[in-house]
Amino acid sequence: MPTEPTTRPAPEQHETRSVRGTVSLGRRLASRLRPGDCVVLTGTLGAGKTALVRGLAEGLGLADGRLVASPTFVLVREYPARCPVFHIDLYRMADADGELEALGLGEMLRDGVVLIEWGERAPAALPADCWRIEIAITGPKARQFSVRPRSGQNA
Ligand SMILES: Nc1ncnc2c1ncn2[C@@H]1O[C@H](COP(=O)(O)OP(=O)(O)O)[C@@H](O)[C@H]1O
Ligand SMILES: [Mg+2]
Repeated sequence: MPTEPTTRPAPEQHETRSVRGTVSLGRRLASRLRPGDCVVLTGTLGAGKTALVRGLAEGLGLADGRLVASPTFVLVREYPARCPVFHIDLYRMADADGELEALGLGEMLRDGVVLIEWGERAPAALPADCWRIEIAITGPKARQFSVRPRSGQNA
């Protein structure tokens, strides 16, 4: 199906009411990810980016989602799944574009899926065509997810 940038569909909306619900949403979304996909996760501290990554990694085949933690002291964590899953957090990066390039994003995307918290901080280093997930805190335990799939992958 041809994709016209001008007629791009509105982002999908999902709501969760618990951490468990967010992990479960991640597992469902993961069934639509393929090696070569890059997912940019946007949302304030505590929004649930890492919780969603846990579900995404589990859905991609990581046996134990408890292995997923924010890569705060390392720049990137790699989880064993059906394909390599790379988890990056650009929160503290002064030069997020430079760091992302130095990490070898292109190499990771050759056969892996890359999940990037605060990925919007590296606009120049991101591939042109990423999944975009924006998370808003809508209540003490409620979260709103706006999901824009990679173009051509809206199924
Ligand atoms: N529906 C929800 N989904 C995800 N996290 C939630 C939800 N409701 C409450 N929380 C809390 O919000 C925090 C999310 O943390 P985390 O996933 O590390 O966020 P981020 O990576 O965006 O900083 C956790 O403390 C979690 O318990
Ligand atoms: Mg986090």
